[in-house]
Amino acid sequence: MSIADRAKDIREQFLQELKELPHDAHQIKLFKDKFLGRKGLVADLFSSLKDVAPEERPNAGKVLNELRQFATDKFEEKTSEAHNQDSKMNIGDPSLPEDPYLIGGIHPLTHTLNEINSIFTKLGFSTVYGPEVDTDFFNFEALNIPKHHPARDMQDTFYVKEGIVLRTHTSNTQIHTMLKNDPPVKIIAPGRVFRNEDISVRSYCLFHQVEGLYVDKNVSFADLKGVLNHFAREMFGQNVKTRFRPSFFPFTEPSAEMDVSCIFCDQKGCNICKYEGWLEILGCGMVDPEVYKSVNYNSEEWSGYAFGMGIERIAMLKYGVKDIRLFYEGDVRFLGQFA
Ligand code: DAH
Repeated sequence: MSIADRAKDIREQFLQELKELPHDAHQIKLFKDKFLGRKGLVADLFSSLKDVAPEERPNAGKVLNELRQFATDKFEEKTSEAHNQDSKMNIGDPSLPEDPYLIGGIHPLTHTLNEINSIFTKLGFSTVYGPEVDTDFFNFEALNIPKHHPARDMQDTFYVKEGIVLRTHTSNTQIHTMLKNDPPVKIIAPGRVFRNEDISVRSYCLFHQVEGLYVDKNVSFADLKGVLNHFAREMFGQNVKTRFRPSFFPFTEPSAEMDVSCIFCDQKGCNICKYEGWLEILGCGMVDPEVYKSVNYNSEEWSGYAFGMGIERIAMLKYGVKDIRLFYEGDVRFLGQFA
């Protein structure tokens, strides 16, 4: 039988079987292999080309190419038709309840930061970001933290190399901001900070802070208290009380720490506030004139305040989280509770 006759037979057989091809993935695959596969009938015919007389080969080749193209097109037409019908029909039973599915949620730290951001943005603070790897100058020196200050101890600071540190606080961004901008400045600077501390339920080698800085004409401690009181009420509820305790930071003078009344026991005394009724949430103060010197601001002309708070600390209080490490472990059983 000539190649052309065999091609005609295969074509008829192909059309017949295609017509009867059941709507079944396995059967479709078998069918495709049988005709169009590497060892299929069409390929088989191609391999017998070598037995055809040389002068007839071009013609026979053409016939086979046509057959292959024809079969491929028909097969695709049929299967894509079936696929379309499939997706039209497979809408399932619309009266059944939905499949339960998990939706992601915003990480509690991100959520807390968003809230803090939104409170200060409404008060006219803009958000800026400083570097996590920084020089000794920005992280310490310019903030009036002298060479032998305990905060520089190798125990607390991760040194990348001599003079380069992983920032230990977001206060470095105060310096970056003031060196780049003339006063007035009114910023918050959120971000990650690093400390070489033992890991425990209360401390981790990295955590997050939000720094605040406002420098302008005639800024007073009363302004600072006003802004932070407002912040505390927005964050923890309108009934929360605050108090400012004198403290010390090298870059502020005077310095204070702000406490909020314990949101767990309403100051009746519990183990979270250690029966004191107060929870410490941030450090703050008036920018020290030494800091203005580092950034070439005239401290006779300008005054300002700064504050810094730990985001984890606030999130732990807000959500009653007892172990700081939960924030970093990515355990869905923990994170799912905030979705
Ligand atoms: N940088 C301080 C820390 O990490 C927090 C802080 C305290 C920031 C007082 C301030 C401030 O801006 O005024 O412990």
